[in-house]
Amino acid sequence: MTTERRFACLAEDLSPGAAMTVPGDPPIAVYRTEAGDFHATADTCTHEKWSLGSDSDLEGCEVTCPLHMARFDIRTGEALCFPATVALRTYGIEIDDGKVFVLG
Ligand code: FES
Repeated sequence: MTTERRFACLAEDLSPGAAMTVPGDPPIAVYRTEAGDFHATADTCTHEKWSLGSDSDLEGCEVTCPLHMARFDIRTGEALCFPATVALRTYGIEIDDGKVFVLG
């Protein structure tokens, strides 16, 4: 079994505290925490359809979906509060020569 490696961005192009969407099937959200760590989850909020990579608030390792304020832990995908009850799928990250890849 091979692991798909999808190019996300250059590490320097994602500011600390920001997120982005890697298009594809499925789309994946990549986050960079204020501490400088990269994490990746499914892009679509598990409550309804909302792109977390395009529009969300990242604080520490918690991302808030602005549509109904569900929060998730981006390290584990765990849904931390109502109205989300289903975890986000998480993906591995690989940094290679200043480039960020998601592993699916
Ligand atoms: S769509 Fe994200 S909280 Fe409702």
